[in-house]
Parts: sequence; structure tokens; C-alpha cells
Amino acid sequence: MIGEVRVVDHVPTAFAALVATEIGEFAVGAGEGDLFRLALSGGPTARRCYEELAVVDDVPWELVDVYFGDERCVAADSPDANQQLARESLLDRVGIVAGVHPLSCDDPDGYGELLRAAGPLDLIHLGLGPDGHTASLFAGSEALESPGERLVVRSVDPNAHNPFERISLTLAAIDAARLAVFTVAGTEKRDSFAMVRAGEDVPAARVNAGRVVWLVDIEAAGE
Ligand code: 6PG
Repeated sequence: MIGEVRVVDHVPTAFAALVATEIGEFAVGAGEGDLFRLALSGGPTARRCYEELAVVDDVPWELVDVYFGDERCVAADSPDANQQLARESLLDRVGIVAGVHPLSCDDPDGYGELLRAAGPLDLIHLGLGPDGHTASLFAGSEALESPGERLVVRSVDPNAHNPFERISLTLAAIDAARLAVFTVAGTEKRDSFAMVRAGEDVPAARVNAGRVVWLVDIEAAGE
């Protein structure tokens, strides 16, 4: 596996502290017009992480430009939409951010151009599925095997473990990020995390961003 594993008592608390520190350190060195490019995830662990992050004091949210690592092809205000999850758990709570760039299934190329023009992400938040997927890159999917020049693709789980058509950043886009933070919580992730740790070729284990940090609780780490 690639990256640094931190076994923590409570993944959302550790996530909130790490992300707030990264944004704070960025703010100290930021020049005029510099923005911290943060990509958000989806799923129940992400929701808990964002709820914790939303209550951290003194985060300079006005410097944070918000992107998404993946999205389900549903209405923007659907309870299943990752952007809706992000609004409810984080964005509506923190107030002003520099910008929010929701992913729409209609326009993968447009989002790819947006990312290319903005430059690499400073931090991408990623989850780990029980099947080893991350973002919406599923084992055996075309999206996982996309050629290096593509940054955003439509995706579907060929094994039908995960519902909804999706849109996802590719490994190339994820790997361009300065820091990828995985959050892995609960016994249902124990097997997939063990596969990652053992170096098996599951999608999440292919992530090779500038730095990769795995925040894993005791239940998922099996310790
Ligand atoms: C999504 C997510 C997805 C998620 C994993 C793990 O849209 O479903 O982006 O990739 O990160 O399924 O989710 P949990 O950590 O919440 O189980």
C-alpha cells in the first residue's frame, strides 16, 4: 500500500483536525488570490467527518475552493447527491467559502478542464468501500483504467455492488493532488483495508498522490 497509516480513536475528529491544520498552514503562506483547493467525498463516513470539520473554530473558509472527487448521477438536491451531503454537513454550516464546484454527470470534460485550469488539488478526501473502491473507481470498471490524460469520467460499478451511475475523478486527477486523506471507519471496512495494507490490487490501493494519509479506526484496522 502507499502512504502513512494513522490508527485513531475517532476518524471524524482526526479528519477535522488534519484538514483544519492543512488549511491553516496554507493560509499562513498564501499570497494574494491563492486558494486552497479541497475535494470532498460522499458516503456516511464523509458526512460524519464534515460535521466535525464544520465545528472547528477559526478555519479560514474564505480561502477554500471546494471541488468533488465523485458524484452520483441524481438531482443536485437529492438526498443521495454528494453535493447535497456536503451542503448539509459542511458548506451551509461554515458560511462563505471561496467557491463551490459541484460535479455534474452531464459534463465530465468540462469539469476536467476546470480542474486543469485551477491546478492540482491541495487535498482530496477519499473513502474506502467494503469492495476496495475509492471515489467512484470500481474494480473492473473502465473508469479505473482511464488513460492518463482524462481527469474526469462517467462510471458505473460493473459488479453492481454500488448503486447509481456516477461521475468520478480518475486516478490521474487524484494522483495530481498534494495530499489524499482516506477515512476508514468500522468493522465493515476491515477486510478491504486489510487488502489495501497487504498490497492487493484494489482500486484504493492504486492511489499515489503527493502524500497519502490513511485515518483508520481500531475496528477497521483490526487492532
Ligand atoms: C460515494 C463515495 C464513495 C465512498 C465510499 C466509502 O459517493 O459513495 O464517494 O466512494 O467514499 O463508498 O464510503 P464510506 O466511507 O462512507 O463508507
